[in-house]
Amino acid sequence: MTTTQQPYGEGNFGFGTEQVHAGEIVDGDFGARITPIYLTAGFLFDSFDHAQERFAGEDGGLVYTRYGNPTNTAVEAKLTALERGVDSLLVGSGQAAITVALLGILQSGDHFLSTPSLYEGSKTLFRENFARLGIEVEFVSDPHDLAEWRRRVRPNTRAVYGETIPNPKNDLIDLDLIAGFAREQGLPFVVDSTASTPYLIRPIEHGANIVVHSASKFLSGHGASLAGVVVDGGTFDWGRHPQRFPQFSAPAGGPGSPSYVERFGAKAYLEYTRTIIAGRFGPTLSPFNAFLLQQGLETLSLRIERHCRNALAVASWLEQQPEVLSVDYPGLPSNPSYPIAVRDYPRGTGSVFGFTLRGGVDDARTVVDSVELFSRMSHMGDVRSLILHPGSTSHAHLSEQQREQLGIHPGLVRLSIGIEDEPDLIADLERAFGALRSATTAEPAHEPAAPAERVVFH
Ligand SMILES: Cc1ncc(COP(=O)(O)O)c(C=O)c1O
Repeated sequence: MTTTQQPYGEGNFGFGTEQVHAGEIVDGDFGARITPIYLTAGFLFDSFDHAQERFAGEDGGLVYTRYGNPTNTAVEAKLTALERGVDSLLVGSGQAAITVALLGILQSGDHFLSTPSLYEGSKTLFRENFARLGIEVEFVSDPHDLAEWRRRVRPNTRAVYGETIPNPKNDLIDLDLIAGFAREQGLPFVVDSTASTPYLIRPIEHGANIVVHSASKFLSGHGASLAGVVVDGGTFDWGRHPQRFPQFSAPAGGPGSPSYVERFGAKAYLEYTRTIIAGRFGPTLSPFNAFLLQQGLETLSLRIERHCRNALAVASWLEQQPEVLSVDYPGLPSNPSYPIAVRDYPRGTGSVFGFTLRGGVDDARTVVDSVELFSRMSHMGDVRSLILHPGSTSHAHLSEQQREQLGIHPGLVRLSIGIEDEPDLIADLERAFGALRSATTAEPAHEPAAPAERVVFH
């Protein structure tokens, strides 16, 4: 039961209204206003026949939480509306979302193309884990070069992958260009929109077919739990390519039975991915964590507005500091991605970005150790501001040469700007830069205290 007659996700309401109301289930028994946490492994069958009908999927009811749960379903409906998709699937983490989204499409012997600048965890997943499953990834060198995309297509290419605001370099991709290429080649385009969220961009409206998120980040927002989501745009015609994607066109339940395309139409991909991939590999999201995600989503636009405003202020301040070589924030006019930012991201370009210190790793160490308000953490999209040195942490497994190629210089520091007050964040960085300056002068103005004593906000 919902509270309005008008459907969500079709432009009847504004983003703020949809983030609060879309998908909500008003409990029919007690009138609980917030969709409750249905912490149950399974669901009762009234009778022998009822159980049989449920397993056959005849009445659309729930069977077992690995395949669906009312709390998760409500959050999925909210995300479907916000992304303008046809259906969504919640899973236990962003990594699980990327994995099941691609395993719904790819099988051993397949090849897929990806943009080069991606979250490092996705790269290692593709290069190492997918390789062990016989699935080969190929990263294009220049995602803006249509000719290169075309040149790299092979007879066994089955998907195209990219990130809206790539983590950590923020070198924005041109979604429309890559979507046009994927469409021309008859390939589904899968986009990780973790750093942007549907408030900043809806990849489906730019031609993506499937959207994934680490919902552990901005969507949940409070850094309390992990979650992931796969959103199906319903826009890829799987039935047109039965040789390439036989899983959607072959009889799903033995000879003569309907295929996923025949049975589920535009939702064929998501249904297959829910039941055959996630349902069997099993990365189920706990309804408890789905509830935390639901709470986070209700304030998404408010938080993102503040995140973006703070990030632009901090990036502008950093750009003026003599110790800073460059700031990778696409909202700055000096950034190479600024034209795409202006065209595609009118509400802002998120709040995760790196900046490079001239003094290399020594300067990075001083800044990371001197902040008080920023938390030294591997995470992003949290209400709290976070700081990390990628070269010695998330990208430490790469060679120095590989890091240089990716723009992960020794002096690169990554920030995830939270929703605290902007003057406090800048004051914290001013203190850290003061420590930097005093460390390089003979007579230090003040000694930075040992980090362990200063960690008061963690
Ligand atoms: C862009 C992006 N995608 C996916 C992930 C993985 O998400 P999770 O940590 O929820 O598995 C991350 C994690 O940082 C990320 O930054």
